[in-house]
Amino acid sequence: YNHVYGKGNWKEFDPKDLLLSYNALKVLEARYLLKDPNTLRYIETPQMMFRRVAKFLASVEKMYGKTEEEVRKIEEEFYEKMSNLKFLPNTPTLMNSGTRLGILSACFVLPVKDSMTTPQGDGIYDTLRAMALVHQQGGGTGFDFSELRPKGDIVASTAGVASGPVSFMKIFDVSTDVVKQGGKRRGANMGVMHVWHSDIEDFIHSKSGELKDVQLQNFNISVGMYDYVMEKVEKGEQVPLITPRKTRIPGTDHDYYITKARNYMSEEWVQEEILSELEEKGGVVALDESRIITVDEALTIAEKEGAITRWINARTLFEEIVKGAWDSGDPGLLFIDSINRRHPIWYLGKINATNPCGEEPLLPWESCNLGSINLEKFVIERDGKPIVDWDGLAETIHYAVRFLDNVIDANRYPLKQIEEATKRTRKVGLGVMGLARMLIKLNIPYDSIDAIYFSYQLAKFIYYEAFKTSIEIAKEKGSFPAYDANLYHDIFDSAKSFDELKDIVKVDQTPSAYVKKLTETVDRLDFSKLKEERLKYGLRNSTVTSIAPTGTISIIAGTSSSIEPLFALAFIRNVAVGKFMEIDPLFLEYLRKYELDNPEVVKKVAETGTVGENVFMPATIRKLFRTAHEISPEFHLLHQGAWQQWNDSGVSKTINLRSEEPQETVERVYLLAWRLGIKGVTIYRDKSKSQQVIYFGLKK
Ligand code: CDP
Repeated sequence: YNHVYGKGNWKEFDPKDLLLSYNALKVLEARYLLKDPNTLRYIETPQMMFRRVAKFLASVEKMYGKTEEEVRKIEEEFYEKMSNLKFLPNTPTLMNSGTRLGILSACFVLPVKDSMTTPQGDGIYDTLRAMALVHQQGGGTGFDFSELRPKGDIVASTAGVASGPVSFMKIFDVSTDVVKQGGKRRGANMGVMHVWHSDIEDFIHSKSGELKDVQLQNFNISVGMYDYVMEKVEKGEQVPLITPRKTRIPGTDHDYYITKARNYMSEEWVQEEILSELEEKGGVVALDESRIITVDEALTIAEKEGAITRWINARTLFEEIVKGAWDSGDPGLLFIDSINRRHPIWYLGKINATNPCGEEPLLPWESCNLGSINLEKFVIERDGKPIVDWDGLAETIHYAVRFLDNVIDANRYPLKQIEEATKRTRKVGLGVMGLARMLIKLNIPYDSIDAIYFSYQLAKFIYYEAFKTSIEIAKEKGSFPAYDANLYHDIFDSAKSFDELKDIVKVDQTPSAYVKKLTETVDRLDFSKLKEERLKYGLRNSTVTSIAPTGTISIIAGTSSSIEPLFALAFIRNVAVGKFMEIDPLFLEYLRKYELDNPEVVKKVAETGTVGENVFMPATIRKLFRTAHEISPEFHLLHQGAWQQWNDSGVSKTINLRSEEPQETVERVYLLAWRLGIKGVTIYRDKSKSQQVIYFGLKK
């Protein structure tokens, strides 16, 4: 034990363990707490686990010349934040810190090149191996499969015919099944195909219709969408589908134009990229090679060179995507322009994919570690009224960012490419959980304009404090190696205002004086000063925030997940280790307040999981405890939109729809998500799959 925890640092029992719910203990027992490999007897309690993690992550500080005492102080802070359930890192950090397994990050993006194997290690089968290594230790992987030549295309070396990206995805899927993330976690993947790819229709249909619940079960799939195509969707115009196969045609810069055509490069972030390319070439503007061309020009050239396989109506294609999503939840959309336009280190290249749940758009080989703050812990009472503990929140953010930055140094990376890419940009993703409960405690219904305003302000506060901490750490330990003070793009310069978001969704309500007062601290934040400081001292991490789903860590923390509304007030949760029945404790508290906490009432609620329609319930309860399916898609989207504005990565959110919602709703959701500047969108229509993680009520 001393080897793992340090001499004298472990105890048999700690009263802090009483903070953990029964479900939390079950999850911890099943997957997190260490066992003796020979006797399979547990060798740690939850507090010992938090101590192990705190100690391991604090020890990194020794590398930066801190004294023993300073390191111990940091360890105590890390421990305090975790043991009081104010902050928890993502699962791999909890499971693997200080153990033989070295991966502490949850998110990876691996490149897939159109070759069996390459010297750089990014051919199809190289990547398959890399994926297995990541899954083995509990990480999730995302891939852009668009580089692979389409089905039926030529394979020169064998004079054969290519089988296309979707068939290769199936191999990745089977491998995921076999490896099963060390037996502790189901492997998760994100498969992306960009909308210009010749096989896009196969991809769109690969998980719905007859293939629903059958194929690619370890994949979430998303279509890489471009503004250019979305505009054509609105107008019902044609777009080209392109083969990425590289056959150089003498006398032309084939690759150059094809790449530009494929990327539908009309955006300003692309213009910047081309401009810097021009600059590199010494400002020589040769007509054919490097002049800035419009998308349409690029397409004309691409067509002449035989790269365009056919044209298709953008509207028809979009409807196919919508139909698939309505039917099965897949595919989602990734808005590639929105992702790259607001990627702070855009100068390192274009992002084409995200991790499995979408909150981390990453460059090839990059990984990111996540951690989330339990917002519920920061509602305190003053004069009998609930308020936000902004100081406490700021303090937790400071330690959380330091913690996550240390994870990068403590990580043992499975491949050198991953290590290099990750250490070059040092991305971390601080997120949140418990938003829904925080709102309830503040008496703000999730589907109200007050809640959106609150989310917007809170996200802004967290971003400000996280960014500030990253500057502080840069002073002490240096900036991330790829930092370029002038090229770095501050995302707060391009955040849409609250009113803009409201206008896009056409909500005609204004926030109350109550919520404005509650968040007035945020109005005093000075982002221009923050920018000055960044320019002066540098920045430790190229991204600092990210809203993860917190699927498991929210159970450990005993709070609602991520920024999601409550799903049901009573339900059965289906997870790898069994079925859990849950009744929301906050809801029970309210029932008690109104003396309604008797078995009859609880049983009745449990039948549907909701009280919104229950006329016998007090109005306050009915308003505050509206659940995911009672909340209109617009309010789901507005929350996601608000959190996306003050966030340099992405927001993982499911737009939950009732089973009776028509396809038009999905279409509306996808269009609105794009207009709100959301980087990726996923819907899930209730009961659209045979197996769901969570079922409504108790009867099903
Ligand atoms: O709560 P926890 O830390 O376990 O994870 P999460 O917030 O639900 O998911 C964060 C990320 O972990 C996902 O986006 C995936 O990249 C990864 N993940 C995974 O690899 N396998 C899973 N079964 C779940 C999540």
